[in-house]
Amino acid sequence: MDTRSPAHVGIIMDGNGRWAQSRGQSRPQGHLEGLKAAKRIVKAASDRGIPYLTLYTFSTENWKRDVEEVSFIMALVRRYLRAELDFYRENGIRIRHAGDPSRLPQDIAEELQRACEDTRDFKGTQVVLALNYGGRDEIVRAANRALAGAPFADGGARFTEALIRSCLDNPDVPDPDLIIRTAGEFRISNFLLWEAAYAEYYISDKFWPDFSDGDLETALDRYAARDRRYGGLRGGKGPAA
Ligand code: FPP
Repeated sequence: MDTRSPAHVGIIMDGNGRWAQSRGQSRPQGHLEGLKAAKRIVKAASDRGIPYLTLYTFSTENWKRDVEEVSFIMALVRRYLRAELDFYRENGIRIRHAGDPSRLPQDIAEELQRACEDTRDFKGTQVVLALNYGGRDEIVRAANRALAGAPFADGGARFTEALIRSCLDNPDVPDPDLIIRTAGEFRISNFLLWEAAYAEYYISDKFWPDFSDGDLETALDRYAARDRRYGGLRGGKGPAA
C-alpha cells in the first residue's frame, strides 16, 4: 500500500454552530448542513479509496448541550442511518460504531446495530461513526473488558499495550494516520486518545459545513508530504509492534 496515502482518516467535524451563527441561522441549521458535508466527504473518501474514515459525530461530553440540540443531532443520525442504505450498497461502504451504545436512545442504538449488520460484508471504505464516544471512556471500557477476560482469570496477568488494544471498540481498525479538525481549533477533544498516539494532524480554518472535497484533497496532500518518524529517525519505518 502507498504509505503516503493514509489508511485511516479521523475527522473532528467542528464549527456547525459558528457556520449557522455567521449566517444568522439557528444551530440546528448548522448541523443539517454538517450532515450534508459528512455525506459529501464520505463519498469523496470512498471514491479516493480511503480504507477507514472515523467521523466524530457525538461525544460523551456533547450531552451537556441543550436537550433540543441533542434531540436534533440524534434525529439527524437516525435519518442518516435509515436513509442511506442504498448509498452504502452502491459504494460498498461498511458502517461501524465506536463509543458506548448503552446511553444512546434505544431506537438509535438499534438502527446503528442494524446498519452495521446490513453493511458488514461490504468491502469498500469502512465508516466508523463515533457516537457517544469519548477517548477516555473507550480506554476505561477496554480496561474493564480486559479485566473481565480470560488473561486475568488466574490472577497472574498484567496489562499490556497489546491487551488494551485488543479490547478497544474496533480492535481490527488500524490507528488513524491523519486527523483532520475543522473550524481552526487546535484541540484533540477526547477523540481517539489511545489510537492517535502517532497520528498526523491537519487543521482547517473552514467551518465543517463548508469543508469540501478539495479541502480533503489538500489535507491528503499535506499528509503525503509529512515525514513520519514514530519517535525514531528520519525515514524510519512504522510504529513499534
Ligand atoms: C460540531 O459543531 C458538530 C457536532 C457536535 C455534531 C456533528 C454532527 C453532524 C455533523 C451531523 C450528523 C452527522 C452524521 C455523520 C450522522 P459545533 O456544534 O460544536 O460547532 P460550534 O463549535 O461552532 O458551536
